[in-house]
Amino acid sequence: MASFPTVAPFLILASLLVSFSEAREFLVGGSAESWKIPSTSQVPLNQWAQRQRFMINDTLISKYDGNSETVLQVDEEDYKSCSLSDPMQEYGGGDTKVVLDHSGPFYFISGIEGHCQMGLKLVVVVLSNSHRGKRHSYTLPPAQVPFALPSAPSAPSSLGGGFVGLVMGMGVLLAMV
Ligand SMILES: *[C@@H]1O[C@H](CO)[C@@H](O)[C@H](O)[C@H]1NC(C)=O
Repeated sequence: MASFPTVAPFLILASLLVSFSEAREFLVGGSAESWKIPSTSQVPLNQWAQRQRFMINDTLISKYDGNSETVLQVDEEDYKSCSLSDPMQEYGGGDTKVVLDHSGPFYFISGIEGHCQMGLKLVVVVLSNSHRGKRHSYTLPPAQVPFALPSAPSAPSSLGGGFVGLVMGMGVLLAMV
């Protein structure tokens, strides 16, 4: 029978694999009814999005008043210019689910004239697969090496000292002769 310490690493590995392949659901803005013209008291949607780690196949859920709001998925240019004329996808009904099926940015704006200009827009960046399971790692700067005194100059000076001593010693010997 396999002892627990033997199987433990495999159990941990298996649970990690399960958790990494699990797609998650994100409620836009972190709460219901967040897809609306932003008020000053609200955390901006893009600020909320920047704090999340979106992975491929996660689902983005927008809850809103389906009678007065819509969601358009657009390209970067239309996102910047708030252009409603050429959306990639159009969503309505108050409960929109978008599967984030590839890595990179997804751009959303309100489909109601003027609302995007008033700030109802969102960009969500999906991390590539290579980021799966990785944690933020910080590389510490190399340890400061204490300044090492060069040893070379000490050799000639001691040699010089020895030479001076030798000359002086010989001088004494000569004087004694
Ligand atoms: C995302 O889902 C599709 C369809 O279910 C699947 O084929 C694909 O492998 C999934 N991708 C990832 C990265 O999980």
